[in-house]
Amino acid sequence: MTDKKERLKENAITPNIEPPDGSKAIRPEPSGLFANNPVDLGILSELEGISILEAGQFSFEQVVELCKLAAILEKIEIWPYHPLDGKIAVTAFFEASTRTRTSFESAILRLDGKVISIADGRTTGQAKGESLADIGEMFNAYADVVIMRHTETEAPEQMLENLRIPLINAGNGTGEHPTQALADWFALLKWRPSLIDSEPVQAKLNLGILGTPGSMRAVKSFLLMALLFRSHIRKVTVISEMADPFGPDVTEQLRQADIDYEVSNDVREHLPDLDVIYMNSIAFLGDSYRSMDSRFKLNSDSPIKESAVILHPLARLDELDTSLDKTRHNLYFSQAHGAVFVRQALLMSVLGRLHTLPDTFDT
Ligand code: CP
Repeated sequence: MTDKKERLKENAITPNIEPPDGSKAIRPEPSGLFANNPVDLGILSELEGISILEAGQFSFEQVVELCKLAAILEKIEIWPYHPLDGKIAVTAFFEASTRTRTSFESAILRLDGKVISIADGRTTGQAKGESLADIGEMFNAYADVVIMRHTETEAPEQMLENLRIPLINAGNGTGEHPTQALADWFALLKWRPSLIDSEPVQAKLNLGILGTPGSMRAVKSFLLMALLFRSHIRKVTVISEMADPFGPDVTEQLRQADIDYEVSNDVREHLPDLDVIYMNSIAFLGDSYRSMDSRFKLNSDSPIKESAVILHPLARLDELDTSLDKTRHNLYFSQAHGAVFVRQALLMSVLGRLHTLPDTFDT
């Protein structure tokens, strides 16, 4: 039997770590991603020194290797290796965040790096009218990487006018949220490790998206990263209130990827067929956040396939009922918790600190 077949046999059913609250929520065991399958650090070193702006900039191999490294980081104690010793990150958040800023900061601190934390952009010179280009020029002297969230879609472009250190886009208006997509696919790859193979060996997935990619950056980045995994996907069904939920750039990328997709506004018709349900209801419309697609609500009585998993970038409103939290459909807490490790893997790659990893791991 080849190594690949042995690995697939081992990974056909991913063991679940028992959640501490005794619920059935899924917390897949990470070792399925790296057992008998070492991380290719050469592929990850391609990311050294580059800015991370959109989901589509990653190759399939880069996403897979980032997730494999993240799975190792989830299993080991990394702090004794001090991977980011001497490195400083600015987390510049010009828009509210619970998860992204704190998980990035947790990732950096656990890697022994240091953080300059801007939790509210109004404490910067932007409140006095200073441009992001000028703020970027200052950051060159203060840090080794900038992690920025902003309400304006054009904000990364403006910051990059003068920034000469890498920028990680942590969400820009209606634009993208590429590290959220990494967290999403890290959760899915742990749940189904055979997704890391270039050709499918398990049944292809029906992917359902309850939301509007054109107005929801996390949904957009998830969908665009899904295109890398298209050989594993039978069909993408987008359930949205909008007749055209994509916008022209996403439509073009879907067309080029030659992926089978459908748009519908009937959630009950499609729900029983979906293997993976990605949902969100917070959209950026005009100049503020609004609840959208909120008539598509799920709870533990919804007609969801028994084996289906739900992803949600959170924050949630009432579209995702808490009655689902303790069910085996809940992959969304694993998705949020795993974000720390995939962000660690990304930071080590972008900051050129992969060489600090030990040759062998005691997992
Ligand atoms: N998923 C996500 O971006 O959450 P926050 O808005 O809390 O950062």
